[in-house]
Amino acid sequence: MQSFVVNGGRRLSGRLSVQGSKNSALPILAAAFLVNGTSIIHNVPDLSDTRCTLKILSELGCTIRKEGSTVIVNSEGAQGFEIRESLMREMRSSVVFLGAIIGRCGKAVISSPGGCEIGLRPIDLHLYAMKRLGVCVDESFGKLSCTVQNALVGEKITFSFPSVGATENAILAAVTAKGTTVIVNSAREPEISDLCDFLNKCGAKIQGAGESIITIEGVNSLQGAEHSVICDRIAASTYLVAGAVTGGDVELLNTNPAHLNSVLPVLEEAGCDIRVRCKSIRLKASRRLNRMDKIITQPYPGFPTDSQALFTTLASVAKGTSVIVENIFECRFKHVPELLRMGAKIRTEGRVAVVEGVERLYGADVHSQDLRGGAALVLAGLCAEGTTNISDIQFIDRGYADLENCLCSLNADIYRKVKQDGATKKKFTKTCSDEDYSA
Ligand code: EPZ
Repeated sequence: MQSFVVNGGRRLSGRLSVQGSKNSALPILAAAFLVNGTSIIHNVPDLSDTRCTLKILSELGCTIRKEGSTVIVNSEGAQGFEIRESLMREMRSSVVFLGAIIGRCGKAVISSPGGCEIGLRPIDLHLYAMKRLGVCVDESFGKLSCTVQNALVGEKITFSFPSVGATENAILAAVTAKGTTVIVNSAREPEISDLCDFLNKCGAKIQGAGESIITIEGVNSLQGAEHSVICDRIAASTYLVAGAVTGGDVELLNTNPAHLNSVLPVLEEAGCDIRVRCKSIRLKASRRLNRMDKIITQPYPGFPTDSQALFTTLASVAKGTSVIVENIFECRFKHVPELLRMGAKIRTEGRVAVVEGVERLYGADVHSQDLRGGAALVLAGLCAEGTTNISDIQFIDRGYADLENCLCSLNADIYRKVKQDGATKKKFTKTCSDEDYSA
């Protein structure tokens, strides 16, 4: 059992190189199963979700080698087509293996995916796409058995909602289908483009990645390739908000500022000074932040739902009242009751949160209940008076590589507490320093 202990009140400063993208690495690793031969994937963040994905790949028969943040997947001879339920339940994106397994094996057996409980999260759009390509889906006894009669055949797939996961699954199944597939109202997230970049390097013929219409001309087979995963735009948002709520001065390196086009203006509205260079973002924050008029989460390029909880914390300490509308998931305000324990003033009604900023938050014992909600509590602890204890941090470890050390390198005072053999130990790998960051 692990928890974070955060001693608030320090001003964050310094430079940080941001981790690779979780939501890009996961589908790209699944795609490595579709490829004949060896794929070399760089900048893969070390997370519980990526470790789970590697376990699935290895159980499907792939050989895996890790060298730092590089993962080498050799799928030669891999014949697995079933993912055991316990692995499916560990994370939502296990479902994205469906398209890759169907594409490679012509059959697949999975069960409903797990993942953060931020809404109902059905997979009807994933199954609709599979059926359009000629997959027969049998749902019984909690299992999904999918088979292809002769071959996958390219088709027009029109999504009622630009689902990220369903778009990824449709692409993975269509790249080796016979003929052409056109995906209409596809997701446009940068992680989709990154997946398509990797697949095109492997010999796929995909056009329109990042737009709402993607055209895929099926090819007979794909060969291994080398690829570097994009930077994690949500992790980048998290570190920027950490700088903002502590009145800090942080510079993020190895980022792609264009992926945060909907986020940076909101930070400026809150009173932060944002300087962008081609691969870096510097944020300088004034002592007290301003309220933000209205934050409405939308599919990319709109404001990301994954940053909503982070900005709820920011709004909690801003001057004035901010309104936040969560359009994507129906149950993504679980961090609010925990922030109320820290002295925040937030009212929620359905998918709307009205956040009345307070002068100061106070340390408290709080629980993380999902990935981004947990991160929002860490941010609250950084600017709170006193000590905050955050339990159930396994949710946070799903998406942040070495969060506490990254924050410590920016002068935060945070450490991980580990319960071992009944004893509680501090897990400290870096001492926090008062290093002063000068331009
Ligand atoms: C991806 O989840 C991300 N996860 C999520 O990030 C992110 O919040 C989400 O996209 C939206 O941006 C990964 O990439 C691993 P969706 P995904 O399918 O694919 C409904 C994080 O914090 N829907 O775009 O599951 C669904 O219920 C995670 O890193 C259907 O109704 O998201 C939701 O309301 C959390 N039927 C909406 O669409 C379907 O078949 C968006 O879901 C599929 C989805």
